[in-house]
Amino acid sequence: MAQVIVVEDNQTMLDLLTLNLKTFASADVIPRENAAEVIDLLSLLPSVDLIIAKNYIKNQNVPHAIVDFLIDNRLDIPVIIVGDVQEDYPGIEEIATTVSDTKDWEEIVKTACKSLGVSEESLTKKMSPDFVPVPTRYFLSLESTFCDVYIRIKKGPGDYQFVKRIHQGEKYPMDVVNKYINQGLKHFYIAKEYEENFTNFVSNQLVEKLNDKSIKLDEKIDIMAEGYSIALQEIYKMGFTSATVQLAESIVHSMIDTFKVNPEMSPLLFKIINSKTGYLYRHAHMCSIVSSEILKNMGRDKKELHETMAYAAFFKDIAFVENEELAKISTFNALEESELDEFSWDLVFNHAQEAANIVRKLEDAPLDVDTIIKNHHGTTNGRGFATENNKTDFPKLSLIFIVAVEFTNELLAFKELGRKPRPIVDILKEKYDVSKMKDIIHALEKTIKNS
Ligand SMILES: [Fe+2]
Repeated sequence: MAQVIVVEDNQTMLDLLTLNLKTFASADVIPRENAAEVIDLLSLLPSVDLIIAKNYIKNQNVPHAIVDFLIDNRLDIPVIIVGDVQEDYPGIEEIATTVSDTKDWEEIVKTACKSLGVSEESLTKKMSPDFVPVPTRYFLSLESTFCDVYIRIKKGPGDYQFVKRIHQGEKYPMDVVNKYINQGLKHFYIAKEYEENFTNFVSNQLVEKLNDKSIKLDEKIDIMAEGYSIALQEIYKMGFTSATVQLAESIVHSMIDTFKVNPEMSPLLFKIINSKTGYLYRHAHMCSIVSSEILKNMGRDKKELHETMAYAAFFKDIAFVENEELAKISTFNALEESELDEFSWDLVFNHAQEAANIVRKLEDAPLDVDTIIKNHHGTTNGRGFATENNKTDFPKLSLIFIVAVEFTNELLAFKELGRKPRPIVDILKEKYDVSKMKDIIHALEKTIKNS
């Protein structure tokens, strides 16, 4: 068994290194507090396999004295220096490797394993778990899976057992999934080798259902909502893949189709608003319908424009995929009063800009969709929100989308809080120069009056 001397004054780091070197390199750690102690030990035990030494402990340069001792005594023991090496000392590069981040225990363990002759391949295999989590909700849109599905049971600290719950190819009843969801189970587990294929599998199943013309509107809304949440999660986490691009495209076209097939806007919005689906999805689908309705009433009933709006609606709030409550903040005052932590505050403040950056990576995204997303809260750079003192001018399509967003905010707030909806003009007046929006407001009012 390999022996490794570790000089580390942070107990947590020392524990992590001890545990991981044992697991991944079957090595025993001998902790020492300073260079003098290491040198004492080396005099007795010159055959240790590796020394890991933090650069500075209590203002003392630990590795320097150790390296000097090794050179003077011609001991061929590799050293890993943890922390930034400021000064140059002779002979060091032949003996020592540096890991500059003192908290990066994974990198230290990797470097140590390499030095101890553990192959990179076997290390990767050991370090990455055999099972990967898949959100439980993903299974609501499937009827069977192409691989075995497990639940994870905790046996002790850091020790888990995986128990098979759904067999490959087996048709499972939805009750099984619902039961776990109701118990608060967030993830099922699948073998790591199926991870990528699993997303493709779920996406393909959803795309098939979305294209099924025999499915009624209510059920379609549920499928779209499910697909929307999976697409956003996967795209936000992993970027675009052919499966998620196809899923996003199918949902966008389904949203446009619902608008085309249902000539009256109000009953459709009513169905979506009352569906038991997530806030982000309802907001996106409603924005797409309202913008399309405005376009139609303005005599701009063009396929490409409906598509542009639907894509903007789809991606505008992707940054809130982990916390859709944040999407309910739609004014600068609400953000100021929110008492959010710094991370969430920044996320809300920059979400339009972030979404625009993401959509730019989508090949074949409609022209200008990134600009429309950036402008959707009334700022040119996608940061913050329009305010009374900051009324800017925007391209026409951005203005249409802004009106749709504000109108949707008001409808959803009406549903959630039960407060009386205010006239859209009054809401817009507070933040925008409405003289530039007259035709758009008129087009929207025409729809509202008609239904
Ligand atoms: Fe937004």
